[in-house]
Amino acid sequence: MKELPVYLNRTGRDVLVDGGDATGLGEVYLVGAGPGDPELLTLRAVRLLQQADVVVHDRLVSRAVLDLVSEDVERIFVGKQGFRDGHRQRRINDIMIEKARQGMRVARLKGGDPFVFGRGGEELEALANAGIRFQVVPGVTAATGCAAYAGIPLTHREHAQSVRFITAHTRRGRLDLGRQRLDVAGETLVLYMGLTHVDQLCSELQRLGQPETRPVAVVVQGTTGHQRVIEGTLATLPSRVAETTVGSPGLLIVGEVVRLRRRLAWFEGTGTGNAPFPTLVQALTGTPAGNKRVEVA
Ligand SMILES: C[S@@+](CC[C@H](N)C(=O)[O-])C[C@H]1O[C@@H](n2cnc3c(N)ncnc32)[C@H](O)[C@@H]1O
Repeated sequence: MKELPVYLNRTGRDVLVDGGDATGLGEVYLVGAGPGDPELLTLRAVRLLQQADVVVHDRLVSRAVLDLVSEDVERIFVGKQGFRDGHRQRRINDIMIEKARQGMRVARLKGGDPFVFGRGGEELEALANAGIRFQVVPGVTAATGCAAYAGIPLTHREHAQSVRFITAHTRRGRLDLGRQRLDVAGETLVLYMGLTHVDQLCSELQRLGQPETRPVAVVVQGTTGHQRVIEGTLATLPSRVAETTVGSPGLLIVGEVVRLRRRLAWFEGTGTGNAPFPTLVQALTGTPAGNKRVEVA
């Protein structure tokens, strides 16, 4: 792949940082890989990936993004299947610290944005404690990526004046929406990590004040050629999800803005009458777009 030019910031920090330093210590690039489509990577992410000596990545980083890393660069998979969960985070921190101490440039690639439900803060604290230098590259988080590709504007002057990103998981991995006020008028809710609990989530949202007619969409494998969107209401969505083989990862979007998808679903080609939009991979390989619309409320 053609090398991207190095853009210097006003302090010239890029030259100093990316060129290594006199102490022989390496550094860590905490890079957001976005939700799947490699074209959503920032230029900075691509450049740092091309400079890295080793890439440490999660399960949610798409194959298409990993394909941008040169074949001779070491890749270390640290997804859940790679480690026993209890020790996983400590082990990841140790790997990054060890590699940086060997003088390597370590790209720590995380799905979406590292600072949105990505434990990016925890990893940087460990690096800071160990005296390792780091940089952070933001990524397109699943909420904005999936919403854009599903044709659901998260805010809209007539339907939603605010948006809230919520995790459906606590530290122990259990569903807990706590005592949050989730019935705020004109607010879109985006629930991460809730796919396995759609049933409970929809009941919980109603218990917390949302009407059963509130539109909801589940976006599965958003921004990829396998994207699927299931629509319903808080009352109907659980049975619609149960009827379908949905896969993962998936994200729930709750709010009146979901209705706009009927006209705006550009990626699947159902909103405006356009043909499905090919992803970069499909365009390059000539594979037909496989984006599916599953259900319309
Ligand atoms: C541990 S969180 C990581 C979020 C990530 N840091 C971000 O900013 O998107 C994982 C959750 O993100 C959501 N997610 C990530 N990628 C997705 C995708 N391509 N389609 C749908 N949901 C996705 C799912 O809710 C998944 O359970």
